[in-house]
Amino acid sequence: MEHLKLSGLFSIFLLALTALPTVAREKPLPYRDSSLPTEKRVDDLMKRMTLHEKVGQLMTVLLGSRREHEDFDKERRKQDLNVGTYILNSKDAAFANRYQKALIDSTRLGIPALMGGDVIHGRVTTYQIPLGASCSLNPDLVGRAASMAAREMRLCGSQWVYGPMVDICHDPRWGRVMEGYGEDAYVASRFSAAAVRGFQGDKPGGRYSVAACLKHYVGYGASEAGRDYVPTDISRQMLWDTYLPPFEAGVKAGAASLMSAFNILSGVPASANPYTLTEVLRNKWKTDAFVVSDYGAVKQLVRQGFARNPKEAVLRGFSAGLDAEITDERYYGKYLEELVKEGSLSEKQIDAAVRRVLKVKFDFGLFENPYVEELPDAERFLRPEDRELSRALAEESFVLLKNENRVLPLSAGARVAVVGPFADNGADMLGSWASFGNKKYVTTILRAMRDRFGADRIRYAQGCEAEKTDTSGFAAARTAAMESDVVVCCLGEMNKYTGENASRYHLWLPEVQEQLIEMLAATGKPVVVVLTNGRPMILTETVKHCAALLDIWKPGVEAGPAVARTLAGDVSPSGRLTMTFPADMGQIPIYYNRRRPARKSGYYKDGTIEPLFPFGYGLTYADLKYDDLRVTPAGNGFEATVSVTNPTGRSVKATAMWYVSAESDRIARPERELRYFDKQEVKGGETVTFRWTIDPLRDLGYVDSDGRHFLTAGTYTLTVEGRSTTITVPETMAVDPSE
Ligand code: BGC
Repeated sequence: MEHLKLSGLFSIFLLALTALPTVAREKPLPYRDSSLPTEKRVDDLMKRMTLHEKVGQLMTVLLGSRREHEDFDKERRKQDLNVGTYILNSKDAAFANRYQKALIDSTRLGIPALMGGDVIHGRVTTYQIPLGASCSLNPDLVGRAASMAAREMRLCGSQWVYGPMVDICHDPRWGRVMEGYGEDAYVASRFSAAAVRGFQGDKPGGRYSVAACLKHYVGYGASEAGRDYVPTDISRQMLWDTYLPPFEAGVKAGAASLMSAFNILSGVPASANPYTLTEVLRNKWKTDAFVVSDYGAVKQLVRQGFARNPKEAVLRGFSAGLDAEITDERYYGKYLEELVKEGSLSEKQIDAAVRRVLKVKFDFGLFENPYVEELPDAERFLRPEDRELSRALAEESFVLLKNENRVLPLSAGARVAVVGPFADNGADMLGSWASFGNKKYVTTILRAMRDRFGADRIRYAQGCEAEKTDTSGFAAARTAAMESDVVVCCLGEMNKYTGENASRYHLWLPEVQEQLIEMLAATGKPVVVVLTNGRPMILTETVKHCAALLDIWKPGVEAGPAVARTLAGDVSPSGRLTMTFPADMGQIPIYYNRRRPARKSGYYKDGTIEPLFPFGYGLTYADLKYDDLRVTPAGNGFEATVSVTNPTGRSVKATAMWYVSAESDRIARPERELRYFDKQEVKGGETVTFRWTIDPLRDLGYVDSDGRHFLTAGTYTLTVEGRSTTITVPETMAVDPSE
């Protein structure tokens, strides 16, 4: 071990030496001179590059095989080095270093590679899935988790993350809802910006900063019938008011890149869409961030009926504004040069795309620091502070959906039956896209309950498997319940039902789990359901049989401690739903900010239109009282305040979600729109004030179908936590961009 560590350090030393300009006394070539501005360095490097080398920078291919230690020679033999960016499927830092060194030493200009990775909720230290994390309504915490993931990525040799995923979705059947921040554009925008800043750091190029890649641009989440990869149809209006804002927020936060989506967007594939790729990104948002395709999205243009063959697909994608491509088939490599030579594309167009990729490499310090320290795993992953952060985020994201007779927190000294297929289950606490996460790193709910409550007070019986029909374990579960004061029943959906291409037909719990809870309820003991899930589920039956329901999503490595501490009352749940829980399948798609119906409502003949749990729902252990809502003029806008009192003896985190409703406007607007949220600790017996400084155009105004923001004079209703008041916007404050 020691020997390995020393040789690792020695190799870093050698690598560092070779990274220095070849002859110290000679002036470095301008592109290698870090004292020059990026612009100049890019200019210089571009002048030296052949068309072939330029095209190489526009390709991303897979590298590594997910083994503990990669076989460098094998990988090296497989690869042609004229490639600018990679998906690094490895956490072997020595391998990443050797590969970079090969690129730097054996290519003519020694351009280091940007090494990417799919890190959605942690590299090795898995934390709460994004949908769950957004329920925390604490973007700072999510930003800190992103920084932790960035550090782990850097220490594996990556500097580019395919995240955050900021697709809005109104259909919980879609498996990828777990990767995003829910149904609301404002929530997703706040988290998008926080995650970008967390990954990239205050300024790109920091020691542990990785370049963010906002995905999937755009409209992928509007999937019809919840199916993956299918076309989506979105009006320009809804594109601007719902689907684009989280991307705009991420771009404004400085995201270095974007990934184009798979879907056909209103007839034109998102990976070959001139409106979204050029008009919006370049002409309106004026960003330099480069756009890479999702894996294989260029070739898929042929399947989508948008190109006759891969060469035409390359032409259509690239001409629309798709700078780079991810695929092992290297279509950009095969056809871009040819397309330039035959005059279908100009070298100037290629140059613009290459410049964007190179800019990121310079900005993120790749030319100065292409290598990574080779640290032992204990110093890279799962350090106590990493676990603590993962636990804190898990705790803040739990949503308490029911708490009859205040069964939670569990009373001191209670004897607890811990039951269910997810109680002693590490794997299903991780969630999809867990990267190098592993079930062996997870502290299970059962283990943590024993630690927190004392093993002698816990009776455990699994009861059933997550979905098999065998009920032979019910008897033991019943005995455990009878010998206890309360039952904690861990139910939900398995990892494999969430994530990419994991759409679901039904969102009820599997029948065997419903039977288990009914049997437990029949014992007369209060049943607390701890639900693990990657999407809103249909809990209409489940909720009838339990006294309390705590949604923990897929909380990551500290699942157990976070649950045990919450059930014990060491911490109160404070999460709010960022996606509506439907009452039944027939309500889907469902979301809170619909536009108003023509008549009072369009009802179903055979069921309710009300969701089971609406967007924004979530209880705490304190019966918080919101009062004293006031709005006063302030500066060029208004200031709104509301007070919250905690009448209990325990400290909790209180949330204020501020909604705006326009009485009428030139575009019919949603019934209500979330425009601000905030969260703060309120100690027992204390009253605190929430404050929102309202910028009228930003916070009360709206956006038209061309992305122009306007504000109409008139009356607006402001609602916060059940309190409402109105604001009048005078003519003098109105903003009309068409004037
Ligand atoms: C997914 C992306 C991911 C990419 C690279 C695709 O299948 O849609 O989200 O980043 O693969 O692994």
